Order: sequence, then structure tokens, then C-alpha cells
Amino acid sequence: MFVTLSCGDNVARKIVLTSGKGGVGKTTICANLGVRLANLGFRVALVDVDIGLNNLDVIMGVENKVLFDLSDVISAKCRVRQALIQDSRYPSLYILPSAHTSGGADISEENVKNVIDMLDPNFDYILIDCPAGVDKGFHRAVFSANEALVVVTPHISSIRDADKVLTILSSYNLFSTGLVVNRVRGDLLLSGEMISVEKISELLGVKIVGVIPDDDEVSTLSTLGAFSLNSTGTRAFSLLAENVHNGTRKVYDCTLKYRGFMGALRRSIKKRV
Ligand SMILES: Nc1ncnc2c1ncn2[C@@H]1O[C@H](COP(=O)(O)OP(=O)(O)OP(=O)(O)O)[C@@H](O)[C@H]1O
Ligand SMILES: [Mg+2]
Repeated sequence: MFVTLSCGDNVARKIVLTSGKGGVGKTTICANLGVRLANLGFRVALVDVDIGLNNLDVIMGVENKVLFDLSDVISAKCRVRQALIQDSRYPSLYILPSAHTSGGADISEENVKNVIDMLDPNFDYILIDCPAGVDKGFHRAVFSANEALVVVTPHISSIRDADKVLTILSSYNLFSTGLVVNRVRGDLLLSGEMISVEKISELLGVKIVGVIPDDDEVSTLSTLGAFSLNSTGTRAFSLLAENVHNGTRKVYDCTLKYRGFMGALRRSIKKRV
């Protein structure tokens, strides 16, 4: 069942997850943020604009439920509600899969915006999963958004690409831009071997909205399309969702489990493996 149709007065927050650099966790964060926002009771649509590489439906474990996709809506083969897949755990969470076959050359920024506009009255949040790079696919994803979350990992190449992306984003009339620092290792932060999230924020001149630990469980479950509600990353994603919604400015402290006697033990074990 589709979410109750509103009379059109609702305006969704449309947030694009972008990075420039590939493989830093955009899709993982899009999926997990969507789950946590839906858990808070919001109506959430996850829109995969990484055309041709349908990762979002795979991570959400709904790949085998895909009947229609974004390109079918654009070419009027179906209505948008027919292409939306409802999450089995959260009835207010929907996934709009990307075009599975087309390379997307014929899909324009306006085409995607028209689809997002159709979703707009029915959702509180529309999270747009952007492809890697800064070419056509990037602009196609950013064009419909009014906010951006730039995903960055604590590595020099990722930070440099995020900087380039932020420069391009400044030419868009975005209401807000924030950083999500992904794959943070608490043990390396404490030993001084990893750049701190504060330093990343300072270098890029953008506020931190979320910090997500490097966590094998996040990776494994995403790969299996079996995202767990009880994964160890849940706390970090919950804080991200609360910050996105309320601007709480609370972010996950990845060093916590490496502090004290037990923490020192964990660090020494982690060093050995
Ligand atoms: N916090 C994390 N801890 C461990 N593994 C992670 C984490 N975040 C993402 N990963 C893993 O990193 C890989 C890339 O993640 P993901 O596909 O979300 O990146 P992406 O930025 O969307 O990639 P692309 O640019 O190709 O779209 C996946 O295998 C994912 O499981
Ligand atoms: Mg992706």
C-alpha cells in the first residue's frame, strides 16, 4: 500500500548523498539513514539515481521485488507509485530503484526532478543516492535536491574529492550542506594514526552531521542485502538521523569502545589482526 496521499501541501526535505570519490559509503549511508528516519516515524523515499548500477535495492534487500524502475517512470511505462517498493520492516519507507538496464545517457536532470516532484507531496524525506564522479550523473542527482550530505572517509584522496565536490555544490542553491565522516577507526584516532573528524571539518569548512565507525557488520550485512536493525552501527546512524532532523549536533564517538582497560585490550587485539 502506498503512503496516504496528501493534498499536496507537504514539502519533503530532498537530501542528496554525494562524495565525488567512489566507494566511500554513499549508498550504505543513504540506506541506513533512511531506515533510522523511518524508525523515527517519518515517511521516507530512497531514490537511486546511480543509473545502471542498482546498488540501493540490493543493499535494502529488495532487488527481487523490482518490477519497474526510475527509467520506466520517466518513460511513462508506469506510474511512480507502481515503481516504489515498500520496505517490509518499516511501512513508511520506500525505495525507488534506479534504471537497471539503461546507461542513463537519455535521462536528463529535469526527468529526474519531475519524478522527485511527484514524490514530494507524499514524503517527509527524499534521500537521493548519487553516483561517484562529478559528471552528468552527479548533476542529475544534485539538481533535484535542496540539501546535500557529503560523505567522506578519513583518507586524503576522499577529502580532496570532497573538497572538489563542495566547490561544485556551491554553484547550486542548496539550503544546507553537511559532512558525514564514514569508516572512522576509534583505535587509530586514539593512537594518532588517523585524521580527526574535527580536522576534516576544519579543512573542508563544513559542519559534521554524522560520524560512522568502520564496522565489519555494516559491510557484511550490506553486502548480503540483510541490513540488521541491531547492528553495532545503529547508534551512529540513529545519531545521524536525529542530527539531520533536529540539528542536535551530537555525533557518534568512535573512540569510546577503545577507552579504559577493556578499550586498551581491544586496541591491542585489533593491532595484532
Ligand atoms: N562504515 C562502514 N564500515 C565498513 N564497511 C563499510 C562502511 N560503509 C561502507 N562500507 C562498505 O564499503 C563498500 C562501499 O560502500 P557503498 O557501496 O555504500 O559506497 P558508495 O559510495 O555508494 O559506492 P559507489 O561510489 O560505487 O556508489 C561496501 O562494501 C560497504 O559495505
Ligand atoms: Mg553507491
